[in-house]
Amino acid sequence: MKGPGRRGATRRVLRSLVKRGGVALADASGSYAVQHLPEWIAKTSFDFARWRELWVAQNPRNDRADLARLVMFLENARLVDVEGIAGSLAELGVYQGTTAKLLHALLPDRTLWLFDTFEGFDERDLAHERGGASGGFRFDDTSLERVMRHIGASERVRPCKGHFPATAAAVPDGERFALVHLDADLRKPTADALAFFYPRMAPGGFMILHDYGSGAWPGIAEAVDGFFADKPESIVRIPDKSGTAIVRRVKR
Ligand SMILES: C[S@@+](CC[C@H](N)C(=O)[O-])C[C@H]1O[C@@H](n2cnc3c(N)ncnc32)[C@H](O)[C@@H]1O
Repeated sequence: MKGPGRRGATRRVLRSLVKRGGVALADASGSYAVQHLPEWIAKTSFDFARWRELWVAQNPRNDRADLARLVMFLENARLVDVEGIAGSLAELGVYQGTTAKLLHALLPDRTLWLFDTFEGFDERDLAHERGGASGGFRFDDTSLERVMRHIGASERVRPCKGHFPATAAAVPDGERFALVHLDADLRKPTADALAFFYPRMAPGGFMILHDYGSGAWPGIAEAVDGFFADKPESIVRIPDKSGTAIVRRVKR
């Protein structure tokens, strides 16, 4: 067997050994550390390693280990494509651009609107948090330039720097969204984003609501539950680290 073929075979054997050992260890620890990939990934030529690399880049340690969240993005971006859901992508809460880069790489032909102060939380929003608390997080160690370098040059990426919802004024009338990722951590901008994006979602479009089930940011569930109380959609939680919830806009 020639070099690369042998390397490939060795890698497969190693992977299988690691998986067997890892599953046994995870079972013993009661942890959720080892998980089979969905078959549409595992049994096709889909290059999961490439997406995992993107996921790890600039992602904090706890979040980079959250592979259920990564697979959720892969799955829903695929559905946007397969189901032909028309419209742009948007993210509120970009920080250093980890999830923004992933979204752009997954659906590079879609316009991607990015909303962030790129300077961290705004005092006006923190005032709406119960106890004014943000757990000491500020997310101010970033900049628009750094994020754009991380994502890479593309005319499809439309950064809107400043306080949301004021920055939503940049979105033209008639814009529709196929997938929106809300990851602002705080109640007020999340409530504002739901009010802004919901009527602009394409039928079947995905609203990905990070931290819905996270005890760390209770304002998210308050905003989401309050908003959807009189809407026909259901809130479905996925079992990732931070209790992401997904809502698909009903088809009218
Ligand atoms: C948890 S971070 C986003 C993480 C990012 N989605 C990721 O996974 O790579 C939250 C971000 O929301 C932004 N943010 C919160 N409230 C905002 C508001 N009202 N306007 C603009 N940005 C806001 C913060 O500046 C911060 O960068």
